[in-house]
Amino acid sequence: MSLILSIESSCDETAAAIVEDGSKVLASVVASQIAKHAPHGGVVPELAAREHLKAVIPVTEGALKEAGVTLKDISAVAVTQGPGLIPALLVGMNFAKGLAQANKLPLIGINHFLAHIYGAFLDGDLEVLKNPDTYPMLALVVSGGHTSLLLVDKDGSARQLGCTIDDAAGEALDKGAKLLGLGYPGGPVMQKTAENGDPEKFDFPRPLTGGAGRALSPENLYNFSFSGIKTALLYHVRKAQEADCCDAQWLADTAASFQRAVVDVLVRKTLTVLKNYPVKTVVVAGGVACNAELRRMMAERLPKRITLKIAPPKYCTDNAAMVGGIAWHAFNKQEFSGLNMDAFARLPRIVSVPFVGK
Ligand code: KG4
Ligand code: ZN
Repeated sequence: MSLILSIESSCDETAAAIVEDGSKVLASVVASQIAKHAPHGGVVPELAAREHLKAVIPVTEGALKEAGVTLKDISAVAVTQGPGLIPALLVGMNFAKGLAQANKLPLIGINHFLAHIYGAFLDGDLEVLKNPDTYPMLALVVSGGHTSLLLVDKDGSARQLGCTIDDAAGEALDKGAKLLGLGYPGGPVMQKTAENGDPEKFDFPRPLTGGAGRALSPENLYNFSFSGIKTALLYHVRKAQEADCCDAQWLADTAASFQRAVVDVLVRKTLTVLKNYPVKTVVVAGGVACNAELRRMMAERLPKRITLKIAPPKYCTDNAAMVGGIAWHAFNKQEFSGLNMDAFARLPRIVSVPFVGK
């Protein structure tokens, strides 16, 4: 039995977790900085780093306590290496290095993007990963930083089919909510406001989906673009302000229609991949996967032959359990990181995933 202590500090959540054998989450503690960043309308990297500095020890102590274990029971320390905000990542990484060094434990650097996918397999679903019938598996990662489609085969090889060419889906929701004066983070508040609205009231564009007889260039077949929806929202708001019709119902209808456009693009792109590849399983992960409309539309519109796995909401937004879970696979292969490990800001080219195949 191996217990991994994991640390996550890539953005605005300081998190620590204790995960047993890549699946059983004994503790997952998340300290959110949302209240600190909200007045700025987005995450301020230096502020995030300072908040991580304050929170990283308490969340780690909290995770050990919640799991009922001590550092002597831990087999390895895992930490998010990137992608993310460098000042924020450095805090978690430095702490993890110190912890590993002082306790003579192996250190494992983790790719945050892949950890998000792993969030769908925590709490006892490792058999699905071992089953060859699960593959090809398509992962849609939708967060504040990513909107990406990754195709994974049964030997663990992977290929990024497409990604956003401008804003990420979560970023579009965050910026859209800011424009509507709804606050930060935008995804949850947009969902809440949309509850009382008509998603078909206003027609927002669905960029790069090739509608209205427009042919889509092959290189953009699986790519996303959300900046156009955001601009359309800006004009929509201006027009309503001029006509003085921005009442509560208008706001709800706007949020519902805007959210519908974002979700519709995500579902349509997923369906396009399903048309062209013999995908068996679709995984939806990342903060935006919390979205009730996205969860519902995916379940409704994906063919019934497809197994749909959406990470539970607590493992969609940033957390350390997904980091500790995926790290177990590297631990088993003795793939450790050196104490000279560096953080990275951008997503590197993905050619394989560590949790599938040998
Ligand atoms: O995965 P995450 O916590 O951090 C990143 O790695 O980016 O994702 C944060 C993003 C934010 O853009 C936030 O607005 C979005 O996830 N989000 C949601 C919901 N909850 C969080 N978007 C739509 N609906 C939600 N319920
Ligand atoms: Zn994330």
